[in-house]
Amino acid sequence: MNEMFSIAGKVAVITGAGGVLGGSIAKSFIQQGARVVAIDIRRENLDARVKELTDLGGEAIGIVGNVLDRESLQQVADEIVARWGRIDILCNIAGGNVPGATLAEDQTIFDMKIADWEKVTQLNMNGTVYPSLVFGRVMADQRSGSIVNVSSMAAFSAITRVAGYSAAKTAVSNFTQWMAMEMAMKFGDKVRVNAIAPGFFIGDQNRAVLINPDGSLTERSKKVLAKTPMGRFGDITELNGAVQFLCSEAASFITGVVLPIDGGFSSFSGV
Ligand SMILES: NC(=O)c1ccc[n+]([C@@H]2O[C@H](COP(=O)([O-])OP(=O)(O)OC[C@H]3O[C@@H](n4cnc5c(N)ncnc54)[C@H](O)[C@@H]3O)[C@@H](O)[C@H]2O)c1
Repeated sequence: MNEMFSIAGKVAVITGAGGVLGGSIAKSFIQQGARVVAIDIRRENLDARVKELTDLGGEAIGIVGNVLDRESLQQVADEIVARWGRIDILCNIAGGNVPGATLAEDQTIFDMKIADWEKVTQLNMNGTVYPSLVFGRVMADQRSGSIVNVSSMAAFSAITRVAGYSAAKTAVSNFTQWMAMEMAMKFGDKVRVNAIAPGFFIGDQNRAVLINPDGSLTERSKKVLAKTPMGRFGDITELNGAVQFLCSEAASFITGVVLPIDGGFSSFSGV
């Protein structure tokens, strides 16, 4: 049975691997024996991450790359195939909100800056689509591979203040379904595309809106917890098992799903 969940020996590309969520997934992949290609736009994050991964005894390489630059992604794909001969897994983790794209409490949608709307939708939507096209092409040629995208609770129902992020994550959910269909129908049943939809985890990008400087909960985070049946935030490591499962043989008939990992947030009406 354990064999079915194994990702040992697989070549996994993880974008945004210098960040909180990508780092956690990269570490758990290394601990499970996968070979990791860590991609991030910030060199300083990446160098620290690769050291951490190789210190764990794993095979990892770090490549500075921008998920919005298709040419450089193609070079990365060529490099990986030259080195390891294949690409089995792509985790599209790079993304997140852009500070200017969050409306302040006293703003309305008409105060939204279009430049920030464009930044946040580009990063979260095309930052998933472009790597999926480049690395997914390799998987299509191999007739096997697994892509995992990151959607959000913001794609299930409206969350105040974050219009651009929500629109982009909704696009990620839809693209997940669309590409899943396309790959299965045209490239066979071994190329799968799924997404996770994390609930609320305290990360660098959302700490300020959820936790006050004195460590107490903000009004916003009290609302989040009131709608979370488990009554707590997630621990970032609680995403790792689901991602591994989606990338393993155990999920061989699962494609096009958006799996909430949210302590029940998306299934609870709040009443
Ligand atoms: N933290 C949460 O609670 C939460 C909840 C739902 C979804 N998410 C999603 O999970 C993903 C990761 O979130 P996180 O909390 O780890 O954020 P993070 O900011 O810690 O990590 C994101 C990483 O992506 C990198 N990055 C940004 N732009 C890039 C680009 N153009 N090319 C390559 N790399 C780039 C950053 O340098 C950073 O290291 C995001 O898609 C985010 O929207 C997070």
